[in-house]
Amino acid sequence: MAPKPLIIDCDPGVDDAIALFLAFACPDELDVRAITTVAGNVGGALTARNACIIREMAGREDAPVFRGADGPLVREPVDAGEFHGATGLGPLPIFEPATSIVSDYAVPYLVDAILNAPAGTITLAVTGPMTNVASAFEIAPDAAGRLREIVVMGGARSEGGNITASAEYNIYADPHAAQIVFASGAPITVFGLDATHQVRSTPARIAALRAIGTPQARACAELLQFSADVERNIPGLHGAPLHDPCTIAYLLQPDLFDFLPCRIEVETEGRVALGHTAVEFRDPAASRTRWATRADGDGVFSLLIDRLSR
Ligand code: RIB
Ligand code: CA
Repeated sequence: MAPKPLIIDCDPGVDDAIALFLAFACPDELDVRAITTVAGNVGGALTARNACIIREMAGREDAPVFRGADGPLVREPVDAGEFHGATGLGPLPIFEPATSIVSDYAVPYLVDAILNAPAGTITLAVTGPMTNVASAFEIAPDAAGRLREIVVMGGARSEGGNITASAEYNIYADPHAAQIVFASGAPITVFGLDATHQVRSTPARIAALRAIGTPQARACAELLQFSADVERNIPGLHGAPLHDPCTIAYLLQPDLFDFLPCRIEVETEGRVALGHTAVEFRDPAASRTRWATRADGDGVFSLLIDRLSR
């Protein structure tokens, strides 16, 4: 089967970096057409540079990087530097990438790439605030319906929030953009905290990654150890959750997850519940959205280790 054409919109970011390493390690399965970056975990200049660093470490400078939005559509910017470190890549050594971004125009790139591809061929993985994607849909409303699928890391239902009691970070960081994307009519598969909290970076799993011995696998082990150390003191957590790589693991092996059809509304006003995702399983008929309810944590890590060992 031909590799699946894929664009990854991200805010690297420790777990975004692992998602990129996984995607880049599977050229026979995923045709990474481009990376678009957005401000989120850290500022827009850093997420763009970090995408170029990870791309170079993965030996995949064939994939162009386009820098996108430097802030959310409406609300004031909020970062997640406490979870990703000042550079956005935790413990990784930072260097000036040999190949830089193509341009600052990620949104026009997304519009052109989606409208110029045959309908139903492009998959879009979104692992940061959805500002670029929402902006592309505002410019070209037809784009949403031309996508094969949007695979999103974001939101929370039964798990509660991770940036506030009510909201998961990617949605909280740009709730207006998330509402636009969820209302776009595109086929969307959503990995919220309900699923990603079932995929934990235990010491044994981190050690298994490190034992692969390649620079990419060692980098992933160091990134996971950094997250484990940062999140060690969060009550109720037993190992840092593996958020963004779940989107790529799904594209490689869908049977690692279970889903329910749903409608998702986002709280875009208010103070206490801003960014909350109301995931409605009743009457989902009019929606093409699916919510991940179960994740096979062992299976996701086995997949990550297998692909990074190749
Ligand atoms: O809540 C987890 C999400 O927020 C991940 O995408 C992580 O990178 C941060 O952006
Ligand atoms: Ca992210």
